[in-house]
Amino acid sequence: MSLLTLTTACQHDIINDPNAPKTDTTIIVTPPIGGGGTSPLVSDTVCFNTEILPLFSSYCGSAGCHDVTSHKEGVILTDYSRIMKGIKAKQPNNSEYFTIIGDDMPPKNSPQMTAANIASIKKWIEQGALNTKCTNVCDTTVFTYSGAIQTIISNNCGGCHGNKPGTANIYLGDYASTKAYITSNTTLFLNSINYKATTASKNMPQSSKMVDCKIIQIEKWIKNGYPQ
Ligand code: HEC
Repeated sequence: MSLLTLTTACQHDIINDPNAPKTDTTIIVTPPIGGGGTSPLVSDTVCFNTEILPLFSSYCGSAGCHDVTSHKEGVILTDYSRIMKGIKAKQPNNSEYFTIIGDDMPPKNSPQMTAANIASIKKWIEQGALNTKCTNVCDTTVFTYSGAIQTIISNNCGGCHGNKPGTANIYLGDYASTKAYITSNTTLFLNSINYKATTASKNMPQSSKMVDCKIIQIEKWIKNGYPQ
């Protein structure tokens, strides 16, 4: 698929009224399956469930840090209402949980968010920091490592498995290591991302199951021999 497909794959139509009161009501954003026309009805609404929550959960909410059990400094960053305690809608520079990223947090020896991750969080705050829940957000015809899988794994798993040796000694920070790990543990890996692991704590990511289309992209990548 073209580069255009990749760059528009996560764009969505806005169904939010910009003047509506900002509550934590979930807003479902279901974009039409795009293409066809010259100007598809999509916008660039950032989805909290697929783009933002995984970043806070993975990079800040890892076990021993700001998860429900540990809550260092009283901060818990694994769900919308708790994340909103440090976010001011439309004001990234007055949002403590935004301004601290890359400054002191995550700690220097922990995996760091990418510039693109930080830009998504900023844009989400500028758009009103809504609890947007998107469906149908990926192009499942794209399943190469560079085209899709690297970003999915980095955003959803990177905070815990992105630096060597990785949480539970599982390192998923580059192509070769990810391929090698999954090749030796295919069933276990698939069960864990499909929330069918032997115990709940082994369902990954632990904060919430990824949307189906991302799981499908990973499954196609594996079935097709890990295309780069
Ligand atoms: C917040 C930290 C965190 C994130 C994010 C995370 N993991 Fe994990 N992962 C863990 C921990 C902790 C364990 C060990 C769990 C246990 O043994 O109960 C683990 C274990 C696993 C296991 C082994 C499961 C088993 O049955 O033994 C796999 C596979 C795995 N993670 C893959 C992933 C993938 C893929 C992602 C992203 C989609 C991910 N993890 C995201 C912390 C995380």
